[in-house]
Amino acid sequence: MKKLRLGLIGCGGMMRNHAAGIQMLDNVDITAVCDVDEEKAKNVASVLSSPYITTDYRTMVDYVDAVLVVLPHHLHFSCGMFFARAKKHILMEKPLCNTEEECVRLIEACEENGVTLMCAYPVRYWQGVRKLKELVDSGKFGKIMQMSIWTEQLTVYDDQHWAGTGCIGGGQLFSHGCHYIDILLWFCGNPVCGSHLGTNVGTPWMLREGTSVVTMKFENGALGYHGATWGSRGTRMGCDFQIITEKGLLEFDFRKGEVLLYDSLCEHVPGQVDVQPDAYKVLWTRDGDANKETQHEVAHFIDCVINGKKPLTDGRSSLQSLRVIWKMYDAEKFGVMADLRGLGIEE
Ligand SMILES: NC(=O)c1ccc[n+]([C@@H]2O[C@H](COP(=O)([O-])OP(=O)(O)OC[C@H]3O[C@@H](n4cnc5c(N)ncnc54)[C@H](O)[C@@H]3O)[C@@H](O)[C@H]2O)c1
Repeated sequence: MKKLRLGLIGCGGMMRNHAAGIQMLDNVDITAVCDVDEEKAKNVASVLSSPYITTDYRTMVDYVDAVLVVLPHHLHFSCGMFFARAKKHILMEKPLCNTEEECVRLIEACEENGVTLMCAYPVRYWQGVRKLKELVDSGKFGKIMQMSIWTEQLTVYDDQHWAGTGCIGGGQLFSHGCHYIDILLWFCGNPVCGSHLGTNVGTPWMLREGTSVVTMKFENGALGYHGATWGSRGTRMGCDFQIITEKGLLEFDFRKGEVLLYDSLCEHVPGQVDVQPDAYKVLWTRDGDANKETQHEVAHFIDCVINGKKPLTDGRSSLQSLRVIWKMYDAEKFGVMADLRGLGIEE
């Protein structure tokens, strides 16, 4: 089997997740590892037995066919452009780049150089999310009436950390919510309008919002909701996806690793109160350790590069959720609803 020579760039928190996932794959060789902090590069390399370690990614070019870029957001563009021009395929951590102009320039540079560009949106490759999508697409449960996604976590930065400065490019919606706006677009189709309300109460380490509420409406009539925070001192929902359809309520509970169907109310007779609203059927259970399930997205990237396929979350597709977020941020300043027409994901 042909193996892809992959270089790893940026060996901080997220790369540790990727390193664990990559160890599960057999069609990739990690041939180079880079971090400006050599110790961090050596730590990651020690797990993966990498032959080449560097503090300057520009010296990696001859060792790799592709790179996984896991750098602070403000460095995505310059690093991506360097490897696009060097004709190396790129798996770029989210968000693609900090501005629309940078995203478009990077996408175009990759197209001009015949390079595969994929954004690391692991949620689209999580097995539970894919099961949920398969169930919705089967048509068995009717149309989506409402999709809600909750994430609650405590993510704290000090003012020395890049994410505690303007380098992050937005608030928690831009940095983390981009995963879930992407999922709402993927499940519900073309959006019509939407709004974001953010607050910094309880998250003073954030320059912008640490907590967000998003509401959206789609062309097919479905409604979308996303409630998320980086300031939760406790958690009940964790990371949870709920879809109310014409035939029942489907849920993916990330922590439990289960896809559930609640449909006992289908038996409900008007006037009768002895229904069991909590009764559910387990339709799918995760097999194995959850971690962040990043191995699935890396496997997809490798398959696309080796077999010349278009990634599901290529540059153009992943840009759409950022465009939605930028439009909602702009509208929020004026206290109005954002016009989101023309921003769906093409499959
Ligand atoms: N998909 C997810 O669930 C998820 C979760 C967390 C972070 N991320 C993404 O991963 C990326 C990195 O985030 P993180 O939390 O790992 O940050 P981090 O600060 O922990 O790691 C960044 C690393 O990049 C290194 N670095 C900085 N400048 C460099 C340069 N010029 N050359 C080489 N190395 C350099 C730093 O030394 C550090 O080790 C971001 O895009 C972030 O949004 C994704």
